[in-house]
Amino acid sequence: MSEKAKIAVLVSGGGTNLQALIDAEKSGIISSGEIKLVISNNEGAYALQRAKKAGITSVVCSKKILGDGFEDTLIEILEDNGIDLIVLAGFMCILSEKFTSRYANRIINVHPSLIPSFCGKGFYGLKVHEAALDYGVKVTGATVHFVNEIPDGGKIIMQKAVYIKDDDTPETLQRRVMEEAEWKILPMSVEKVSKEIKG
Ligand code: GAR
Repeated sequence: MSEKAKIAVLVSGGGTNLQALIDAEKSGIISSGEIKLVISNNEGAYALQRAKKAGITSVVCSKKILGDGFEDTLIEILEDNGIDLIVLAGFMCILSEKFTSRYANRIINVHPSLIPSFCGKGFYGLKVHEAALDYGVKVTGATVHFVNEIPDGGKIIMQKAVYIKDDDTPETLQRRVMEEAEWKILPMSVEKVSKEIKG
């Protein structure tokens, strides 16, 4: 069998999607890749505790502190660790074209809506679910896609729909979209792309 794809997971917050990836690797849903590294742009991210608990090396790479040197530092860390696949799992920084073109078809992102609805600049976290409820859509969901220079604009890998309930709040909807869609399609997509990279 060929070597596994080396995965870096980039996070900013709670890290429930990171947890879903860690659990999927343990249970064998992800078998073609292994999480080598967790990188957070936020030193207070709970995701870092999740990485520690799972015995995964983590690094803080702060855009606030590094400024213009942020992406160069990120690249150095990724290259030093021989990373094949970059997974944005609740990573709240937009990456430049210089960065995304260097890793074409090697960066994937999970977004909490059915792209092309409620996506692009300014649509992140709870804001996405607020916008979906304000609009009155009856179905939302999650999307995993490749990352290119257009925010949430790369080729779609997987999507899963979630029905909206009459009494949903942004918080209840966010939780259901995570449970029913994100935590399922992100690990499945990571396995699919890892397999393609190493296949
Ligand atoms: C997730 O819902 C993810 O889809 C979203 O942020 C949340 C992070 O949660 N990402 C975006 O909105 C990116 N545009 P987590 O830290 O618990 O995985």
